[in-house]
Amino acid sequence: MDVIVAGDRAELAEARRALGIGGTPPAEASLALVPTMGALHEGHRSLMRLARERAEHVAVSIFVNPLQFGPNEDFSRYPRTFDADLEVCAAEGVSMVFAPSVEKMYLPDRQVGVSAGEMGTVVEGAFRPGHLDGMLTVVLKLFNLVRPDVAVFGQKDAQQLAMVRRMVADLDLPISIVGGPTVREADGMALSSRNRYLSPEDRGAALALSRALFAGAAQRTPEEIRRAACAVLAAEPAVAVDYLVLVNPATFAEVREDHTGEAILAVAARVGSTRLIDNVTITL
Ligand code: PAF
Repeated sequence: MDVIVAGDRAELAEARRALGIGGTPPAEASLALVPTMGALHEGHRSLMRLARERAEHVAVSIFVNPLQFGPNEDFSRYPRTFDADLEVCAAEGVSMVFAPSVEKMYLPDRQVGVSAGEMGTVVEGAFRPGHLDGMLTVVLKLFNLVRPDVAVFGQKDAQQLAMVRRMVADLDLPISIVGGPTVREADGMALSSRNRYLSPEDRGAALALSRALFAGAAQRTPEEIRRAACAVLAAEPAVAVDYLVLVNPATFAEVREDHTGEAILAVAARVGSTRLIDNVTITL
């Protein structure tokens, strides 16, 4: 079956009807959403496969959301590869793609948005003010427009995933959130749409991020973990670190030395003009 492409609310509603989603029970079909900004890669494909296991139909949204980019960030140069993305969606059995323009998505006099609260000001939020607010605002709009039963997000954006879970809990949204594991290349590099900005030299230097995380994950205590990961990053001068933190997966607060259970070791760094993030989950 061809992928149905919808660009606005009316086309979305028509697509839902055509697929029998939200019809009268028992004819109602379930829907899983994979929200993306396009430039789809194997990591997105793995999320689509997870989504297919969870619902009868999969919707993918493709929208480069201006609200989650700062004034000096890469909104205008973010890769836009719609035709190739559509082929990926078709190959993964996606039923519909929602790809609105900025004008269709936001009213020109838009006033109201989602606040990520204090959790939106730490770690990634401390380096990208407003990013998590903008991300949650578009995710809530996508939930309201597409009306999925399930939504699938990558663990690679660990704070994003934690914040979306928080929003669903705080605002009583009737959606199950599923996290998909980070997909890595054979040498450990986490897949990201931004990897295509990297020159071969930058890519070589950027490998220090995953090496640092793996070195940290091989240790036993929070102090050893931070020290081992820091040492790897310090040895790569082409990597400018924004943060390296060991945090509680639900709150993103730094874990204490006596922490037990899961923790996330997360890193953000700039390599050349490209900013990359990565993380691993460690059980203490
Ligand atoms: O992870 C992304 O690609 C974006 O942050 C998302 C969830 C699609 C919201 O714009």
